[in-house]
Amino acid sequence: MKTVKQVRIGSSEASYVIPYLMELGIVDRSAKISKDGGHRLVPILPGREDEMTGMGYELAEGPAYTMERRRPQERITEELADLPPEIVSCLPTKWEYVGDVVILKMDEKCLPYKRRIGEAYAGILGAKSVCADAYGITGELRKPSTEVIYGSDTESVRLENGIFYEFDVSRIMFASGNIDERMRMKELDCKGETVVDMFAGIGYFTLPIAKFTGARKVFACEKNPHSYRYLLKNLERNGVSERVIPILGDNRSMLGKRFADRVIMGYVQTTSAFLPKALDIVKRGGTIHYHDTFYINEYKEKVEEIFAKAAIVDYEIERIREVKSFAPSVSHYVADVRIL
Ligand SMILES: C[S@@+](CC[C@H](N)C(=O)[O-])C[C@H]1O[C@@H](n2cnc3c(N)ncnc32)[C@H](O)[C@@H]1O
Repeated sequence: MKTVKQVRIGSSEASYVIPYLMELGIVDRSAKISKDGGHRLVPILPGREDEMTGMGYELAEGPAYTMERRRPQERITEELADLPPEIVSCLPTKWEYVGDVVILKMDEKCLPYKRRIGEAYAGILGAKSVCADAYGITGELRKPSTEVIYGSDTESVRLENGIFYEFDVSRIMFASGNIDERMRMKELDCKGETVVDMFAGIGYFTLPIAKFTGARKVFACEKNPHSYRYLLKNLERNGVSERVIPILGDNRSMLGKRFADRVIMGYVQTTSAFLPKALDIVKRGGTIHYHDTFYINEYKEKVEEIFAKAAIVDYEIERIREVKSFAPSVSHYVADVRIL
């Protein structure tokens, strides 16, 4: 036991607030989280008290059990030591928490033992469900090919940068590598603007823009009904329903011309096929945030080529930034292009 500062988190919000505090590096991982009625008492590191009180949480000092010192990976390997050695040597070493659901990056070789593996990771990582990602994300609608290997409830909430994203982890992709771009969207100055998010998903960019940038209206278009259902939930949960007009359907069927101050094209690989529509709806003086994947040695020329081919108006490529690495020698980029 040791004495620590603890923050009281209501059990109903614990599944997404605790992972968020862990991500911020506020939680003292050498002490255990305990229960007190309808609350969890989460030990926090010295010097981080003001951040917690700033978020409106109560702090108290109290005793906490110290954590087992061994890393989770060591404990998992020990628990699964009876599996064949070639399986033990390729057990997942990478995982991601989405609220209280864990996604494991899993070698296909491990799939025959998925039940045992799922159970061991769930127990040691404290997850209600575990999904195995053995094949990556596929198809036009960007569906993850994950498989639920432990538990059944895969609906979860991720709290990131002050935004709640609720979704079904087994059926919807959440690109954690795009976090900087979601942060950048949150920090834009869109005061009074009309924004169109052509590939809204569950609200990846719509939510930060609607919640933080002063945008007047955001049109959020999404054609996958399952993602759209979560988009609606997330608008509600984040209190931005009044500012966002959700549209279920193909963005190429959107009506209206030159009404948008900003158009977000958060989609990769076939993005250029949608550029004529974006150019149709953006105002003169407006901005298109064009996402796509390119070989790292030719991204500038490719963006120039794509716009030169599609644009019937003058434009200026203001900046291009790398969002994340996509494949060997290929990265996902976003170009901010002003239409003149
Ligand atoms: C890749 S996801 C969004 C990723 C997100 N920008 C991020 O940072 O993680 C793209 C979304 O666009 C949707 N989509 C694809 N084609 C579409 C179209 N023609 N019209 C509307 N939505 C579309 C897909 O269903 C998917 O939810």
